[in-house]
Amino acid sequence: MAGSRGEFSSRFGFVMAASGSAVGLGNIWGFPTQAASNGGAAFLLVYLLLAFLLAYPVLMAELILGRHAHSNAVRALRQVSPLRNVSQIGALTGIVGFIVASLILSFYAIVAGWMIAFCLSAIAELAGARAFANWLTSFGLWRNLLSMLIFMALTIGIVSAGVKEGIERWSERLMPMLLITLLALVLYVLTLEGAMTGLEVYLLPDFSRALSPQLILDALGSAFFSLSLGVGTMLIYGSYVSDDENLPLLGGIVTLVDIFVAVLAGFLVLPAMYVALHNGVEIFTQAGALISEDTLIFTVLPQLFATMGLPGILVAIIFFNLMTIAALTSSISMLEVPVAYAVEEFNAERHLAAWMIGGLIAGISGIILLNFELLFGLVVTLTTRYGQPILGFMFCIYAGWLWRRDALLQELRKGYPNVERGLFWKIWPWYVKLVCPLIIAAIIGRSLFG
Ligand code: PHE
Repeated sequence: MAGSRGEFSSRFGFVMAASGSAVGLGNIWGFPTQAASNGGAAFLLVYLLLAFLLAYPVLMAELILGRHAHSNAVRALRQVSPLRNVSQIGALTGIVGFIVASLILSFYAIVAGWMIAFCLSAIAELAGARAFANWLTSFGLWRNLLSMLIFMALTIGIVSAGVKEGIERWSERLMPMLLITLLALVLYVLTLEGAMTGLEVYLLPDFSRALSPQLILDALGSAFFSLSLGVGTMLIYGSYVSDDENLPLLGGIVTLVDIFVAVLAGFLVLPAMYVALHNGVEIFTQAGALISEDTLIFTVLPQLFATMGLPGILVAIIFFNLMTIAALTSSISMLEVPVAYAVEEFNAERHLAAWMIGGLIAGISGIILLNFELLFGLVVTLTTRYGQPILGFMFCIYAGWLWRRDALLQELRKGYPNVERGLFWKIWPWYVKLVCPLIIAAIIGRSLFG
């Protein structure tokens, strides 16, 4: 079965694909400003701990469930269920998972489309096509639709080529490119005037802020989004891992790469913001906080690039290209969730399934764009604030409570024969059983009751 459904051909391929899924817009536009406004290096430390103590165990739950079943979430959760009712709830969880993954993709493609538009705009600027460049950076329905469609076509093209030929091959190309570009940009920005102040703001530790319970819950929510948890993405990638691999090790590497890129992005974004300040660009909100998220990426940074002349245009092209790559290696993992389900459950042909499901999701993106004020924020909140944590909770329940302990151990032993003797087996089982569900319940409770 595993042979016919595709498998990553190497450990490197899996690590690139899974960390490609994890590293996305969330790392670059969310993490750096969140850290700077919430205790700098102290926040980094808290985030690092949370990622390993809580997000990593959930990631492992998904990877192990996936590898065990060598199939999609619906089947994987059914397989570990001891009772019929439980198995039906498992199947439902898997189905909700692929719906949530598709909805995340529907808003993600819109934002990623903007990255493409800003990249093309800088190229148009270089070519002297001013009016076109301006059109590309102004918020308008046609610009939004067109750039979203370009991004979706890229995503669909890769997924339709298959696990090895599409996802693995492209992740292996794009991820190293992303890391090298990011590193080069960091080094360049650090040479500009004002950069060192940004570095100080980013790193100066303030434990009183970083340790507030509210912040810890927020950080946990972002760690969940950042590691692509809850929607079956990591489960399906885990299902393509060969039985000889040591899963706890692979999951650890993916977590580390994700955090590393988030931290590295801070070395780019914060210094860049203070270079912008030095060049006369406003980087604070009226309330005095650092500008973040979309305004940061689509207003502050472009204003900075504009103050830099020709090098600014080149940096803009490189930067928005980097963002597009980061988004693409994540979006392919989102589309893979429903496509794998259609291929496995309904024997659909992959190429056709990718274009049909991708087309449907692009249609949803179109509807969101037509009702932007009403729908965009709503879909983001529903999927990331509620959908992901609730589904993550369910995965923990299946891995921690419903799956027989000896069966679980047997699964882990496959690529790690001495697993019982290691630290992982001593800690992880009761973590997914007790600690993770409790904390996730706290996050959900906070989202619901403020
Ligand atoms: N991890 C991705 C990011 O940081 C987002 C994502 C969420 C990807 C859910 C897949 C599934 O941008």
